[in-house]
Amino acid sequence: MQSIKSYILDNKDRFLSELIDLLKIPSISADSAYKNDVLKTADVIKTSLENAGCDHVEICETEGYPIVYGEKIIDKNLPTVLVYGHYDVQPPDPLDLWNSPPFKPVIQKTDLHPEGAIFARGASDDKGQMYMHVKAMEYMTSQNELPCNVKFMIEGEEEVGSVNLGKFVASNRDKLTNDVILISDTGMIAKDIPSITTGLRGLSYVEVEVTGPNRDLHSGLYGGAVANPINVLTKMIASLHDENNHISIPGFYDKVENLSDNERAEMAKAPFSLDAYKKALDIDAVYGEKGYTTNERNSIRPTLDVNGIWGGYTGEGAKTVIASKAYAKISMRLVPHQDWEEITELFKSHFESIAPAGVKVKVTPHHGGQGYVTPTNFDGYKAASMAYEKTFGMTPIPERSGGSIPIVALFEQELGSKTILMGFGLDSDAIHSPNEHFGIGNYLKGIETIPWFYKYYTELKS
Ligand code: BES
Ligand code: MN
Ligand code: MN
Repeated sequence: MQSIKSYILDNKDRFLSELIDLLKIPSISADSAYKNDVLKTADVIKTSLENAGCDHVEICETEGYPIVYGEKIIDKNLPTVLVYGHYDVQPPDPLDLWNSPPFKPVIQKTDLHPEGAIFARGASDDKGQMYMHVKAMEYMTSQNELPCNVKFMIEGEEEVGSVNLGKFVASNRDKLTNDVILISDTGMIAKDIPSITTGLRGLSYVEVEVTGPNRDLHSGLYGGAVANPINVLTKMIASLHDENNHISIPGFYDKVENLSDNERAEMAKAPFSLDAYKKALDIDAVYGEKGYTTNERNSIRPTLDVNGIWGGYTGEGAKTVIASKAYAKISMRLVPHQDWEEITELFKSHFESIAPAGVKVKVTPHHGGQGYVTPTNFDGYKAASMAYEKTFGMTPIPERSGGSIPIVALFEQELGSKTILMGFGLDSDAIHSPNEHFGIGNYLKGIETIPWFYKYYTELKS
């Protein structure tokens, strides 16, 4: 039997070239122009799972993009790990800010990754992180080292809300039974400081439309005499936060989980440099809710952010016009106990109520999901902690993340199992941004760490 370390040394180039091939396919779930590419990616994943030693692999059709399911059941009495990941990616725009084309992966050295990083859309979120599991599986099956049963469920609609996966899970409970769910779709504190993500925020995503006059108007002839939808919309949005940056929607905080002083003190122990944070973003000050630290603001506190705003004339030069309509896309990140559907309703009725006479307001919910908290005292967490300890030489730090993977709460609800979030990404990976990348060191460390999780988890369960 070969050790995982030496298996990686022997196969490193192939592990990279296979991932690079996967990254070449633009599997953008949000844009229907890429439909064939998304479907093709599912086929590539299917083949890779077969090659990695799954006994049974299938493409499960949904009303949207298919789910790739694979399994290897070695003994019904042994525990079963369900691996979840996604093969779809975010749209790459704005394209002109990429240093190399998003779907022509290149390896480039950076200060943080002197060994090189793969630059491509999806490199870290989530093709690279998902593929670590496929390669870890390949190692375990090739060496007869797989200690338990494995199921893979890789979807193609995570970046657009996982609506069809939700239905699939609810109607395939038996097929998907498992003891623990394992996901690599989050990050860690730093390249040499492993952490386990113990919380994800929920999400409510809405679009708003403000309509004033029935047509675009000359801003001289009508300006000052009718409501300008853009002026009104920006004023309405500005009123959603008070002077302390608290969200001013009535009832918004009613169910927010308040952490004890003790828990907050624990959180504050995680290594963090405010100076490095500001420097990395080129900002001279941080900004946020009064009374909370930066790490609290971006993990245990709910937020409301405009993600996009448009209307009127945005072309070259100047055009004097009062637009008929103004729009914005708004996301609210939620914390445990806040219900996303309830928050969506609160937003809708509040936003409609603050509209002045002279405009009409329409609120359209997009998607959402509940937050999630992983306990740190169950076998899954312990096994993950031991695995990181083994490969990083350091106990991983539990860390609540600000991001969302809405399907995780639904997994617990439908399948009754806990999720362990073993992320190997870094904040500097620039996921969803131009120049997304994944350090080769992170990729290989993930492949190295995962088999240890299986080993320790199976030992702890028997
Ligand atoms: N992998 C991310 C979520 C993430 C990244 C969580 C880093 C924690 C750390 C996922 O693909 C994602 O982008 N989720 C979306 C929500 C989804 C419904 C579009 C998000 O968080 O914006
Ligand atoms: Mn992701
Ligand atoms: Mn994402």
